Amino acid sequence: MKYYITTPIYYINDIPHIGHAYTSTAADVLARYHRNLGDEVFFLTGTDEHGAKIAEAAAAANLEPKQFADTLVPKFQAMAKKLNISYDEFFRTTDPQHETLVQDFVTQLQTKGFVEKRKYEGLYCVGCEKFLKESDLVDGLCHDHKKAPVAQTEENYFFKLSAFGDQLLAKINSGELEIGPDSRKNEVLGKIKQGLEDISISRQAVEWGISFPEDKSQTIYVWIDALLNYCTATKIYGKEDFWPANLHLVGKDILWFHAIIWPALLMALNLPTPKKVFAHGFFTVNGGKMSKTIGNVIDPIETVEKYGTDAVRYALLSEFPFGEDGDISLAKIESLYNKLANNIGNLFQRTISMINKYEVVIPTSSVIPAQAGILPNKQLPIGPDLDNLDFMGAIRKIDKFAEETNQFIAEKQPWTLTKEGKKSEVEAVLLAAYDNLTIIAETIAPFTPETAEKMKKQLETLEPQVLFPRLDTDS
Ligand code: ME8
Ligand code: MG
Repeated sequence: MKYYITTPIYYINDIPHIGHAYTSTAADVLARYHRNLGDEVFFLTGTDEHGAKIAEAAAAANLEPKQFADTLVPKFQAMAKKLNISYDEFFRTTDPQHETLVQDFVTQLQTKGFVEKRKYEGLYCVGCEKFLKESDLVDGLCHDHKKAPVAQTEENYFFKLSAFGDQLLAKINSGELEIGPDSRKNEVLGKIKQGLEDISISRQAVEWGISFPEDKSQTIYVWIDALLNYCTATKIYGKEDFWPANLHLVGKDILWFHAIIWPALLMALNLPTPKKVFAHGFFTVNGGKMSKTIGNVIDPIETVEKYGTDAVRYALLSEFPFGEDGDISLAKIESLYNKLANNIGNLFQRTISMINKYEVVIPTSSVIPAQAGILPNKQLPIGPDLDNLDFMGAIRKIDKFAEETNQFIAEKQPWTLTKEGKKSEVEAVLLAAYDNLTIIAETIAPFTPETAEKMKKQLETLEPQVLFPRLDTDS
């Protein structure tokens, strides 16, 4: 089976933060899980480099936008590397092939009669890169960016989004286009039922963008340019047979674009629509928004340097349901690190040490004889959880399985059995525990790929190695 999964392409107006790391890590777990299932995976991530927001950030840094982008892109790639994100391609919207393909798509939209030039008056928020309605404002300010939007009057090209409401409803209701979680799906359905308005797909005042076909006075709206990346990338990298995407993973902030505008554009072009769009929740810090002005932004690279790649991956996905918002802090990540060390780390350490100490021989045949009845739970099926994007549920199962195995060892007390000369019972207990370690190493691999390799190596060589070292509390 082919499996095509994407992250949003991130704006490069600033360095990456822990929110970007969250989406990328979740997508990576799914990509690895599908590879392990034997699927052929195409995992795409990248950067969104056009538009007013980037142009403004570049100007503030005294650089040309492309130059500016070139300094930020390596930071997003470094974040991906630090977190061991196994993407297949890193896409940039400044790729010249993409620019040409986007113009072709817009020309096709025009040919098919879905584009119209109109005068437009609206309130534009550069932070959102979108027009806001009066009703979106709180005290005259954009709710997300706490800034007043700018009134703009422009002649723009419009896409006839209003023509696609019924088709969208039908696709979502039939499950041909899945939206998750359910609460978000209902939100999307509600908005479509209220009626869709046509949207502007060009900008007159924004120079930093792909120029509109046959009209140099306009550039293509950055969101049209950005959404099309999912499709142009398949052409550029020779992955056309992966279309449509199995899953676009996004944050709740950009669900509207992915669940409504994107499928409508594809329908207008007679192209298959994505199979699923899933919007996860947002991280807050001490209950508030992460923001530079407040100074509470968590840097993913520093966090990994402190706690290690795998512990951070595990921590990010373990604390709250994927579709919901959740509060995150370094203290929380640290306590999750300790939990991981004390449960799974300790289980490996003590089991392997005892196997050595009590001279238990691991059968050389790859199959360990079944220790029927000795351990109640010898199954760790997390496939259904991952299929439902329930990362927290999957992690809880792994944690519980390790806890039960730890408890089992504590109850059976191989050290006492040894004193009593019950050699074969010691063996049975430790082989059963060993068996569970192999199951954990296998199951945890998509979450903690490097640690899983270390686990497997230990199980082979029986040389215990600390998986999660004690934290240096001075730093
Ligand atoms: O929207 N908690 O880029 P962007 C969790 N370029 N996730 C968060 C987060 C937080 N506090 N903050 C950001 C764009 N994210 C467009 C996308 S796609 C065709 C174009 C994550 O840099 C989350 O995935 O603003 C969110 O949707 C994304 O970063 C927004 O990234
Ligand atoms: Mg954003």
